[in-house]
Amino acid sequence: MKAVYPGSFDPATNGHLDILTRAARVFDTVLVTVARNPAKTPLFTMDERMAMLQVATAGLPNIEVHSFDGLLIEFVQAHGAQVIVKGLRAMSDFENEFQMALMNKKLEPTVETMFMMTANAHSYLSSSVVKELARLGGCVTGLVPDVVEEQLKIRFAEEYGGRKKG
Ligand code: PNS
Repeated sequence: MKAVYPGSFDPATNGHLDILTRAARVFDTVLVTVARNPAKTPLFTMDERMAMLQVATAGLPNIEVHSFDGLLIEFVQAHGAQVIVKGLRAMSDFENEFQMALMNKKLEPTVETMFMMTANAHSYLSSSVVKELARLGGCVTGLVPDVVEEQLKIRFAEEYGGRKKG
């Protein structure tokens, strides 16, 4: 069984890594795929997001890092996957995910979307909240993989420096 775990991953958090690790136990192969998503202006480039995921998932042999542009279902079909894996946090995720799952089902009825509940410890985590915390000089240790923490520090180095001087 091959599954696809899609997202913006701008950047990946420990919540994403938790879902990926658990999905890797259930499926033979998990393709984690980074969306270009022109509607969003990312903090990290596609290459940077993919490189961070490569490092963060290095210990999981059945995970491959990919990218996609356009419709997710076309990526799923092109790679011969049977399942789309999504993480669900609170009720606020549900409506949008429900709509996307139904649209993907309409586009390709043979592909199933399967939801995994995010672990309690990560239920409040999102890439946006992590970026805001890092931007304002807060500590993100334990919220993101080490490689992401390093890259956030580099990206916001000027702000950290400015804050110390101020
Ligand atoms: O991490 P995100 O930003 O919540 O990920 C959302 C993503 C990229 C998985 C979702 O927006 C998506 O699948 N986009 C591709 C376009 C598509 O296929 N949309 C659904 C059918 S219209």
